Amino acid sequence: MNKILLVGCGHMGTALVNSWLNLNSYSFTVVDPFNFKKLKNKFNNKKINILNKAPKQKEVNKFDIIIFAVKPQIADRVLSEYKDFEFKKNSIISSIIAGKKIIFFQKRLKNANQFVRIMPNMPALIRNGISCFVSTNNLSNKNKKTINQLFLKVGKTLWLNNESQIDKATAVSGSGPGYVYALINSFEKAAQKLGFSKKQSRELVLTTILGSIYLMQETKKEPYDLEKSIAVKGGTTEAGLKNLKNNNIDKIIYKTYMSAYKKAKILGKKN
Ligand SMILES: NC(=O)c1ccc[n+]([C@@H]2O[C@H](COP(=O)([O-])OP(=O)(O)OC[C@H]3O[C@@H](n4cnc5c(N)ncnc54)[C@H](OP(=O)(O)O)[C@@H]3O)[C@@H](O)[C@H]2O)c1
Repeated sequence: MNKILLVGCGHMGTALVNSWLNLNSYSFTVVDPFNFKKLKNKFNNKKINILNKAPKQKEVNKFDIIIFAVKPQIADRVLSEYKDFEFKKNSIISSIIAGKKIIFFQKRLKNANQFVRIMPNMPALIRNGISCFVSTNNLSNKNKKTINQLFLKVGKTLWLNNESQIDKATAVSGSGPGYVYALINSFEKAAQKLGFSKKQSRELVLTTILGSIYLMQETKKEPYDLEKSIAVKGGTTEAGLKNLKNNNIDKIIYKTYMSAYKKAKILGKKN
């Protein structure tokens, strides 16, 4: 039985726990002082222990995996609640906190040993996420397998070589669902401006996006080749695409990633 302590259970913490709750070989303890009542109601009758403050020392050294999932802005304060704790010798100390580097945790949690920084994303809620990892060199193979398997329950996993890559993954996949929803919103609003109802717009836009992804997955063709097969010379798609290209869609997307990446680096500045 793997005992997991989740510190902070807001949007992302809840998405993860929701997907993990039915796993047999894990037990969950969640700390969230502010959402304590809401979580008690939400997870009523479920096998989960909900606390309104940090557990006591003698309880902490029972956990195999500790996951910090609070906002970066309060990470320093929250970590101070755990600073003198003796963690179980082989426990995995992990964080999904954007930007915060491994050294940040090592400095504050003097007894932490094996550390993993993780960047999941919101589709974890329906087990379709992707989680990126980077760890300290001393992470045992057993622990690597354990944490990898846990996150495989919420989607795909990808191990990266350094923390700069995790900050970049934060910009691409961590924040990615946010950009996708903004784009869907734009497509739907434009379809409504053309005269379709909200319901019709949703049907047209979502089916088109999903169908395009499935087609790409099934044919294994490059997006550029599929685009060219649809945007024939002198046709409607070519006319539409001209607007995206004239407004430099590539540059806009690159700048979007870069802004998020820079923010991740700023959030991680304070060691
Ligand atoms: N949301 C995403 O899509 C996503 C994706 C990847 C990674 N992340 C990362 O995951 C982390 C959490 O994000 P989120 O969107 O889940 O934020 P969130 O909704 O604000 O969740 C954080 C939770 O921690 C609670 N909290 C505050 N002080 C605490 C304490 N002392 N001990 C335990 N819990 C405490 C917060 O309560 P209050 O709200 O009352 O302060 C809140 O419920 C962030 O660092 C973010 O970078 C998020």
